[in-house]
Amino acid sequence: MATVENNIPPGEDPAPYHEPAHDPRRRDFINIAAVSFAGVGAVAIVLPLINQMNPSADVLAQSTTEIDISKIAPGQAIKSSFRKQPLFVRNLTPKEIGEANAVDVGSLRDPQTLAERTKAGKENWLITLGVCTHLGCVPLGAGEGENKGPFGGYFCPCHGSAYDTAGRIRQGPAPQNLHVPEYNFTSDTVVTVG
Ligand code: FES
Repeated sequence: MATVENNIPPGEDPAPYHEPAHDPRRRDFINIAAVSFAGVGAVAIVLPLINQMNPSADVLAQSTTEIDISKIAPGQAIKSSFRKQPLFVRNLTPKEIGEANAVDVGSLRDPQTLAERTKAGKENWLITLGVCTHLGCVPLGAGEGENKGPFGGYFCPCHGSAYDTAGRIRQGPAPQNLHVPEYNFTSDTVVTVG
């Protein structure tokens, strides 16, 4: 006599297979994990984007500054900035040029002629960083009415360094002349520094 096993009558197919219902705790974990990865991914993408908005040191080092010099009268100077440093642009008078050229270059701490610190045919344009070569203070002398010191150029109030009309160190602790950056006259009225 035929036996009936598993309560399935003879000749009938067994019931179709159904997957067991998902464990809700496991699904929650998968969702949380996915969100967490998405969050980390968003931060990983956003940070480089924010960083791209700041100029890198390389970009800053290659940057140039254009300066309109058309309004700087003889005897005047302006303060600008170049690669985040103060920059002085000065239009020397014939008298100031004469005073600079009258100096015995051999007697200077950092021997340089005015011609070596300016462009040929444009010796009246003295373009230097406005950073004292002693400890980096910003010297006076570029602003209207500021103390130009005993040599008529620039005077550093921090420790008394005095620069002449060519921006050369003449007195005080600064070891070097005010630095002259790379620059070119793009036109008669525009200088590109850098
Ligand atoms: S920083 Fe200019 S004299 Fe010291």
